[in-house]
Amino acid sequence: FCHGPLHGKRVVITAGPTREAIDPVRYVSNHSSGKMGYALAVAARDAGATVELISGPVALPAPSGVKLTSVSSALDMLNAAEKATDQGCDIFIASAAVADYRPEAVPEQKIKKSQRKMVIELIKNPDIVASIAARPDKPFTVGFAAETQDVIAYAEGKLKNKKLDMIVANDVSDQRIGFNSEDNAVTVLWDGGSQSFSQQSKLILAGSIVELIVSNMQP
Ligand code: C5P
Repeated sequence: FCHGPLHGKRVVITAGPTREAIDPVRYVSNHSSGKMGYALAVAARDAGATVELISGPVALPAPSGVKLTSVSSALDMLNAAEKATDQGCDIFIASAAVADYRPEAVPEQKIKKSQRKMVIELIKNPDIVASIAARPDKPFTVGFAAETQDVIAYAEGKLKNKKLDMIVANDVSDQRIGFNSEDNAVTVLWDGGSQSFSQQSKLILAGSIVELIVSNMQP
């Protein structure tokens, strides 16, 4: 693959869920499988790129020829993303389902049950992709928008607000696609264009997304 379109480029990808500790034995998380991010890592590798995959806890094997950095929380993922970008990054793809909030105070000891009701206070996590897009050495930055309604409108909002170069929008209210599925159907949006992809395997879709990134990047 020495002469692939991404030869000489470094690609950093976030994937999977994050786990936010409640106490030493419990956490808050989500059902992200990491499949789309792992497929993108393989597609970018096959296009000739040097790939670093920053992954939350998933049940997938490490793709060969890809540097895998395993993380747990959103703060760990942000730290790994900043470090990976410091080493030089041409394309940053944020496919991780980062927990929006984390428990604010994490006790050192296991919380014991007592009252009938208990409250866990949550605090907002930093936005990883927006932090990378705000850097002076901003890479070509790609985000995802998983929505259940007004998919395109919300995705356009995120493209603008997070200062992304491209966003991949998908309708997660559709049971056949999205979270945990082998397939996905998406609309990719950028400033001045869009392209829709019908339901297909995440592996094939990842190849098409990488091709779109290549054609939208500055030479
Ligand atoms: O705002 P929302 O979470 O829907 O945005 C989704 C996009 O932002 C995805 O690309 C996701 O990986 C990224 N994101 C992030 N850090 C967060 C929240 C979302 O990088 N804390």
